[in-house]
Amino acid sequence: MAVLKIIKFGDAKLRKKTAEITDVNREIVLLVMDMFETMYAAPGVGLAAPQVGVSKKLCVIDVSPEKNRKLVLINPVIIKKEIKAANEEGCLSFPGIYEDVMRFEEITVKFLDIRGQLNEVHATGLLAKAIQHEVDHLNARLLIDHLPDWKRKNIEKDIRRKIRAGKW
Ligand code: NI
Repeated sequence: MAVLKIIKFGDAKLRKKTAEITDVNREIVLLVMDMFETMYAAPGVGLAAPQVGVSKKLCVIDVSPEKNRKLVLINPVIIKKEIKAANEEGCLSFPGIYEDVMRFEEITVKFLDIRGQLNEVHATGLLAKAIQHEVDHLNARLLIDHLPDWKRKNIEKDIRRKIRAGKW
């Protein structure tokens, strides 16, 4: 297993269209193991394949304090959403940035699990929010895309300044 490099905002790979996974093979299983190791080391509660430079519909999540509730979502689709609320949210591709984002409190997600079998999970609270955040990544949608225009532009400007100064 290996800790992979997490790509930050500004890298075009975060905006690339992701491909569906048609075969949950050994290569995918190894990538999933590396992604969990990378996520726990960061530390974070979710990581999407594009964040490690892989344009595939795959993400890993673990919101448990004990770090023992691994969830692997392959080709996830959110099929039910209920009750919207704003909560502070961060992203490993936006270190140090936390913003209020509107998310659904309750969702149902359909996906392939690590055995390649169709599965469905009903999630609430932090898990529901983490799933929505990671599924967004698979659709090239980022944290700042949920913010009002002026706020998004300010953050982008600030990051570009940091990139130029070699501090991002
Ligand atoms: Ni993120």
